Amino acid sequence: MRSRSFWLDGTGDPPPTSRTPPSGRDVDVVGAGIAGITTAYLLKRAGMTVALIEADDQLATGVTGHTTAKVTSQHSTIYSTLTRSFGPETARAYGTGQQLAIDWIVSEAAVLGAEADLSRRDSYVYAEQESSVSQLRTEADAALEAGLPASFVTGTDLPLPVAGAIRFTAQAQFHPRRWLLALAAMIPGDGSDIVTGTRATGLTEGDPCVVDTTSGSVHGRHVVVATHYPIFDRGLFFARLEPRRDLVVAGRADLGAVPHDMYISAEDRHSIRTTPLDDGGVLLIVGGEPHRVGARASVARHYDDLSRWAQQRFPVQEVPYRWLAHDLTTVDALPYVGRFHPRARNVWVATGFGHWGMTNGTLAGLLLRDLITGEENPLAGLLDPARRTVRQSAAEFVKANAYVAARLIGDRMDTAVARHGTDSIPAGHGRVVAAGTRAIAAYRDDDGMLHCRSARCTHLGCLVVFNDAERTWDCPCHASRFATDGRVLAGPAVRPLPPVEPPG
Ligand SMILES: Cc1cc2nc3c(=O)[nH]c(=O)nc-3n(C[C@H](O)[C@H](O)[C@H](O)COP(=O)(O)OP(=O)(O)OC[C@H]3O[C@@H](n4cnc5c(N)ncnc54)[C@H](O)[C@@H]3O)c2cc1C
Ligand code: FES
Repeated sequence: MRSRSFWLDGTGDPPPTSRTPPSGRDVDVVGAGIAGITTAYLLKRAGMTVALIEADDQLATGVTGHTTAKVTSQHSTIYSTLTRSFGPETARAYGTGQQLAIDWIVSEAAVLGAEADLSRRDSYVYAEQESSVSQLRTEADAALEAGLPASFVTGTDLPLPVAGAIRFTAQAQFHPRRWLLALAAMIPGDGSDIVTGTRATGLTEGDPCVVDTTSGSVHGRHVVVATHYPIFDRGLFFARLEPRRDLVVAGRADLGAVPHDMYISAEDRHSIRTTPLDDGGVLLIVGGEPHRVGARASVARHYDDLSRWAQQRFPVQEVPYRWLAHDLTTVDALPYVGRFHPRARNVWVATGFGHWGMTNGTLAGLLLRDLITGEENPLAGLLDPARRTVRQSAAEFVKANAYVAARLIGDRMDTAVARHGTDSIPAGHGRVVAAGTRAIAAYRDDDGMLHCRSARCTHLGCLVVFNDAERTWDCPCHASRFATDGRVLAGPAVRPLPPVEPPG
């Protein structure tokens, strides 16, 4: 079964877009996920002209189109982590920002009359093991001290034996793409535009800045890099962000047989929510199987394991939807939102949402609007990419890079295939094979035809691995993804895998 995200399935008409990037806007926003669209919307509302530039043909098809879209300040057990590492004031400031983002979404949805299946729900982190309860109690105390609507409870509406849980009241959930298309619809006009099918490939900083794209170069007074993993990396972001992939499966369920609220496990990160279907039914959405790209040979097996987990616990007959994406964690668990690098005057970045980008991506938009329009914002120092807490987190920095170093230096070529040639690659599969000093990403299509590209990722040169569930080449280092014809599907890479001759 091929992957298919429920959020991208028949979401309605996008706002008018163009293929030609316009020059001379106040702000060029690169990347139309939740961070980019929210930022562009808010800057236009603040009276600026914007060009929102997106590589894909559609908006919000990146990680934001492959999320579970809980809109909550409950980010697993972050408040005890922040309190322990940096003190209760940091935890309080972070929590205040997340609640602000929820309130802004709820009030703006009312102003816009946005049909985005937005509803208020409680959110829970739960534990099945008694041994996890003390960790949850510590987190509940830290969250309460941070001013959040938190309490430790033992009862939930989950059909699972739960040893304990932390409840956050009056959180929210929505349909992320419907929400973002409602915001995006307000962007075109009065000197602002949305440009799709156009990949940014280069940046020259100055006054104005010049963004090179696959459809020509554009000038803008400011540039916002909202490409998830930052492209044109001048802030060494690749060395201080850690990608982790999560999978999601979803299937129709009976309303009375699924929980009303939103859940995430403290122990194995299984994530549970529902969403209404247009025919009045309900879809159960279950996330899980967190892993580093390339950590396990078969992605299809991760999907099987997650489907089995969901179907053993909930009465779901079929799982017609399944999707995956990775998100990025920073070395100190706080997002990077602010100047692209310490000397940048008019280039800005938003990344590292730590698997909680619905609120963090929204907060990034609110903060970037203030930074670009010269307004004070109390969160500017906390989220500044050059902040002190990043420098304090040297151990995490080393950990994040050890995996990448191993992938850069290590040779993951499939020597068995190299010995036997590519004949043993079955239809619909791909493998990295050695040909002299070259590493070749060899994929055999359903008609038996072999397609060979360089296996060296065009970002920094790690060897890609084949994703058997999606039929893509994925990079384990910073999670760029490529189609079997070499096209970039997700950055930070901006150039395709070049074609190469098949091994002789
Ligand atoms: C499985 C999963 C479940 C999650 N569940 C939740 C949840 O319940 N709640 C929550 O708060 N968060 C959740 N998250 C995290 C959240 O989804 C992300 O943090 C968020 O969507 C990231 O948004 P973004 O705008 O940074 O990135 P994206 O949505 O990826 O947007 C970046 C955009 O930039 C474009 N782009 C990239 N390179 C270029 C280029 N060179 N030129 C032009 N455009 C480019 C991409 O095509 C893309 O559209 C989840 C994440 C995953 C993976
Ligand atoms: S080397 Fe960085 S994404 Fe591949």
